[in-house]
Order: sequence, then C-alpha cells, then structure tokens
Amino acid sequence: MHRPVVSAITALLVSLSLVSIASAAAKPENAIKYRHAVMDAMKGHVAAIALLAFNQVEDEDEFLEDHAEALADLSKELRVVFPAGSGTGETGALPAIWEQPEKFAKAVQAAADAAAALEDATEGGDRKTLVGAFKKVGESCKGCHENFREEHDD
Ligand code: HEC
Repeated sequence: MHRPVVSAITALLVSLSLVSIASAAAKPENAIKYRHAVMDAMKGHVAAIALLAFNQVEDEDEFLEDHAEALADLSKELRVVFPAGSGTGETGALPAIWEQPEKFAKAVQAAADAAAALEDATEGGDRKTLVGAFKKVGESCKGCHENFREEHDD
C-alpha cells in the first residue's frame, strides 16, 4: 500500500475516534470547562461588537456581521452546555438552573432571540436598530447571570 493511502486511512480512523469521544457524554469537569470556553468566546464577540458598532475601531471587512453571526451561533449552544450533573465543582452555575428548568429555558431562549436579532440588525444597516439590538443582547446576558450565576467580579 502506498504511504499516502496509509496516512489517509490513519487520519480517518483518528477522526472517527474523535467523533465518538465527542458524542459520548462529557465528564462533568469537561462539561464545565467547555461551558466556560463558550461563555468566554461570547464575551469576546460582545467586546468586539461594541468596539465596531461604536466606531472605536475600523470595520475593515464586515467584521461586525461576522462577530454577530458567531455570537448568534454560540447562543444556540446555551441549550446544551448545562447538562445534568455539571452543577458542582469549579463552577459558578447556581442550582436554580436545574431546579427551575422552565425559567432557565426562557433565559436561554431570550439570549438566542436577542443574538439572532442583533445578527439581523448588522445586516440591515440601520444604526438605531443596531444599538437597540446590542443593548438587548447585554440585557439577556445580565438577565440570566442575575438569576443563575453566582456573584462574580467580571
Ligand atoms: C441562560 C443563561 C446565561 C446566558 C444567556 C448567558 N450566560 Fe454567561 N454564564 C451563565 C452561567 C450560569 C455562568 C456560570 C457558569 C459556570 O461557572 O459554570 C456564566 C458564566 C459566564 C462567564 C464566565 C466564564 C468563565 O470562564 O468562568 C462569562 C464571561 C459569561 N458568562 C459571559 C456571557 C455573555 C457575554 C453572555 C451574553 C452574550 C452570557 N454570558 C449569557 C449563564 C448565562
């Protein structure tokens, strides 16, 4: 067998085993790490959007749309980053998340809706709508943190 074929097969096997690892239920500490990574990524996009939307930096090539799209995509992940059993350990997630699932689901939906509206607003071009949609995103983060996240400094 030629070497390139062998390496292609090896690569395929490696990627298949990665897929099966990713689809298996994550250990709680990894679920928490992943949730933090998603939250930190959202924070980064919100910070970049603020700088772009308020003309503090030049938007060289539709960066505003890109960050809003990424934020909207990440907001959809909020539904799955709080699996049962991931409420203890290195986490600031409050038990209320699992005790009041309907209320929590509403906070998740509000964030996803706000981020989707912001994505639309960056495409529409109207400044007032954009600023309003950005404020709503901030309120959706804060709204959930107030009820479902431990007191924190950042
Ligand atoms: C539906 C609820 C909810 C929404 C909406 C939400 N968060 Fe969070 N966020 C949490 C919870 C709960 C924690 C604590 C998670 C933990 O420590 O495991 C958290 C933690 C964080 C952290 C700290 C992560 C770390 O490394 O410790 C940041 C930063 C953050 N959120 C940013 C945001 C931003 C920005 C938004 C809005 C774009 C947002 N969050 C929307 C619930 C939410």
